[in-house]
Amino acid sequence: MARKRTSRSLLRQRDSLPERSEYDYHLPVLLKESVDALVTNPGGVYIDGTLGGGGHTAEILSRLSSAGKLFSFDADSHAIEQCSKRFASELESNNSRLVLRHENFKEACSIKEGSDPLYVSGLLLDLGVSSHQLDTDSIGLSYRVNSRLDMRFGLHGRSAEDLLTTLDEGELERLFRLYGEEPNARKIARRIVERRRAAPVATTSDLRTLIEDTVPPFVHTKTLARVFQALRIAVNDELGALEHTLECIIPMLAPGGRIVVISYHSLEDRIVKTIFKRASLTRVPDPDNPRSTTREITPTLHTLTKRPAEPSEEEIRKNPRARSARMRVAEKA
Ligand SMILES: C[S@@+](CC[C@H](N)C(=O)[O-])C[C@H]1O[C@@H](n2cnc3c(N)ncnc32)[C@H](O)[C@@H]1O
Repeated sequence: MARKRTSRSLLRQRDSLPERSEYDYHLPVLLKESVDALVTNPGGVYIDGTLGGGGHTAEILSRLSSAGKLFSFDADSHAIEQCSKRFASELESNNSRLVLRHENFKEACSIKEGSDPLYVSGLLLDLGVSSHQLDTDSIGLSYRVNSRLDMRFGLHGRSAEDLLTTLDEGELERLFRLYGEEPNARKIARRIVERRRAAPVATTSDLRTLIEDTVPPFVHTKTLARVFQALRIAVNDELGALEHTLECIIPMLAPGGRIVVISYHSLEDRIVKTIFKRASLTRVPDPDNPRSTTREITPTLHTLTKRPAEPSEEEIRKNPRARSARMRVAEKA
């Protein structure tokens, strides 16, 4: 932890990153690109589904007029606590444009003004976890820090330890294969089931040792990353939340409203791509007309990024955690 701080301050000196404490929490990825793509109506209602350290929220606020409104969600109480301090003056002002919500971003689809549902001008999702969550990990997200294998962003649902204790071998194998695309899924699942007969796999060190004993050394780091990612995705139903939120926000978008998603692995990116593509279709199968195979429809979304946008080499050099980021943008027709 101390070493990481030092290297980040060295980076600041070298590349003149602003000396601001909020960047110690999380350095926002594709900040300018994502907010440029998101905010087209300064007086509109926006949602930041993944508040984290508030980097994107701050940038969105800076683009809104006094008539604008921003609802920022995070399931992690530390992010809400950090941002309650960071945005104290905005939150305490009489006409605050910012509302912080300590909830899963799935709840974004139920925000209302009085009894009326809102027309939303834009939704931003910067998926995954913040640097703060990885560096000060107390819930078992990182194999680099020893702690209990919980992995829940909030307090709901089953912990990672619970899954490792109760799922059978086949279910564990499927979990690692589906959410981690892990080639050694079967071996690892078998080893977990053998090991837990003697003692539970309860901590990140227990799981790390077990994986390092199961796969060859040259794949240790990749396997650890994939297995930890798979468990985190399953525990927090990350793909379900993403799919649900994209589907339910589309009808709430005002014409010209935007959805911007920054994802960090192919499973997330595939969901975003598929949902955007489906809503951008101009022809669908026509069950009423057997002679023609498709009929014309008005698309709900226009995909503005035919290929996902990626961080520049410069950004990756300053912030290596940005390297896997892929951004897709769509606009309500
Ligand atoms: C990559 S960080 C966001 C960083 C943020 N954009 C910034 O500039 O600091 C992702 C954040 O989203 C939160 N998160 C992930 N999935 C969530 C979900 N389904 N609902 C609410 N928050 C979620 C995590 O707790 C984490 O704080």
